[in-house]
Amino acid sequence: MPSATHTQDSPLLSSALSLLTTAQVTASSEDVLVILLDSDALSGLPTTLSASAQQAIQASASRAGFSAKLGETLPLYQAEQDGFEQILIVGAGTINELNAGQAQKLAASIIKALAERTTHAVIAIDSLPDAAIEPFALALANKAYQFDVYKSKKSTNKLKSITLQTTQADALQARINLVNAIHIGQSFTRNLANQPGNICFPEYLADQAIALAAEFPEVLKTSVLDEAQMAELGMHSFLAVSKGSERPGRLVTLEYNGKKDDSKPVVLVGKGVTFDTGGISLKPGPGMEDMKFDMSGAASVLGIIRAVCVAKLPINVVGALACAENMPSGRATRPGDIVTSMSGQTIEILNTDAEGRLVLCDTLTYIERFNPEIVIDMATLTGACVVALGEIVSGLFSADEELVAEILQAGLEVHDRAWRLPLLEDYQELLDSPVADMANIGGRTAGATTAACFLWRYTKQYRWAHLDIAGTANTSGANKGSTGRPVPLLMQFLRKRAGV
Ligand code: BES
Ligand code: MN
Ligand code: ZN
Repeated sequence: MPSATHTQDSPLLSSALSLLTTAQVTASSEDVLVILLDSDALSGLPTTLSASAQQAIQASASRAGFSAKLGETLPLYQAEQDGFEQILIVGAGTINELNAGQAQKLAASIIKALAERTTHAVIAIDSLPDAAIEPFALALANKAYQFDVYKSKKSTNKLKSITLQTTQADALQARINLVNAIHIGQSFTRNLANQPGNICFPEYLADQAIALAAEFPEVLKTSVLDEAQMAELGMHSFLAVSKGSERPGRLVTLEYNGKKDDSKPVVLVGKGVTFDTGGISLKPGPGMEDMKFDMSGAASVLGIIRAVCVAKLPINVVGALACAENMPSGRATRPGDIVTSMSGQTIEILNTDAEGRLVLCDTLTYIERFNPEIVIDMATLTGACVVALGEIVSGLFSADEELVAEILQAGLEVHDRAWRLPLLEDYQELLDSPVADMANIGGRTAGATTAACFLWRYTKQYRWAHLDIAGTANTSGANKGSTGRPVPLLMQFLRKRAGV
């Protein structure tokens, strides 16, 4: 039996790039100065540059046929104006109308041009609209992320820090510190989600939570339930998933106490299926390797908790991770098996591949004990959600109109968007079972909604929303990897609730 202490040394925090602000640019020969240009007459140069430098840069850009369309880059060597040997000119389109999504594109092109060029860069940001500054900064840090722990030949990206040059340096530094905290949390999420199933299994996630709590002993408490404790609580739906695996399941909770009173917490629940083979309802082979990402919900909750700890957000947050491995074996659940959930409701398990809802429903019942203000779960729950929405937006389900508005708005602000899909009583009959209170699957239609309707039956005690992140948590194919979504969305949600 593999032991929980078998955690290969993988530097889970190694890739955080740090952001600073400064009012005064002091040039050093290794630094690259990044200048954003508006497509209208190549304007928008930082006024901190001398007039002659501004003119020289504009002249070079125009000679090179540079049009300053969004994301266009042009390196200028030996510019030597104001002490910088290297200047990177970057097109920003119409700068004063730049939105959060365009700011991400801009950041991506800058990092692409800088990554192998320098360890430190200075970017003049005063021409950016205020609302674009944080998404721009977070995207700069996130685009420099790399996951090469298992590569003998490491990435050649050497960028370590970026200084944002602004006349508002003092006022902005607190906001940039928050961005740094989010980036640290989001990179943690990505590093966890990118781990393969042979490294990251339920006990590994539990160990990560314990280690995180040890880093922040003043504000963070963690507890781990093993299978015997879950059985004691009657969590037979959860256990129906984990019983097929040699790796025992774990239910992990983290309590972050950032508001020094007993105000009710926001509870975040994450699906932590460390590998989803489908169980006896085995998935087809091609693409199954992507099911290592099926713990992305739990990884996002861990990343959010790390970010709120680093940022010291004045709010109470509880994280709950439903960790199990879904495997076929002689002890695995069979299609047709009937189990009783912790809530007392019985479930006919018609398809063992609809396992996420089975581990989540008992977790959603368990967290009632935290007396939640709001509960949001995040889960790579259905292929149907990917079919409906692709990789662009997460599926949002809730009957709580105010909560829906709050989550959608937070997502828009940081360009980590969600889109509402229907959660209606009319769909519930699709889950009817002739032998139990419900089946764990609906029919061929409305798969993302029937999954949400299933969870809805376990969340009547509190305000609740569900995010289906099956399409947004990771990319697939040659450049496959965790995106760290929806960490930015939920951090924006939490920071606004905290009034920061
Ligand atoms: N983890 C999958 C959902 C998934 C599919 C995530 C593709 C990312 C990409 C989930 O456990 C699952 O297998 N869902 C089934 C449900 C069905 C059996 C009702 C699905 O979507 O096919
Ligand atoms: Mn599945
Ligand atoms: Zn799954």
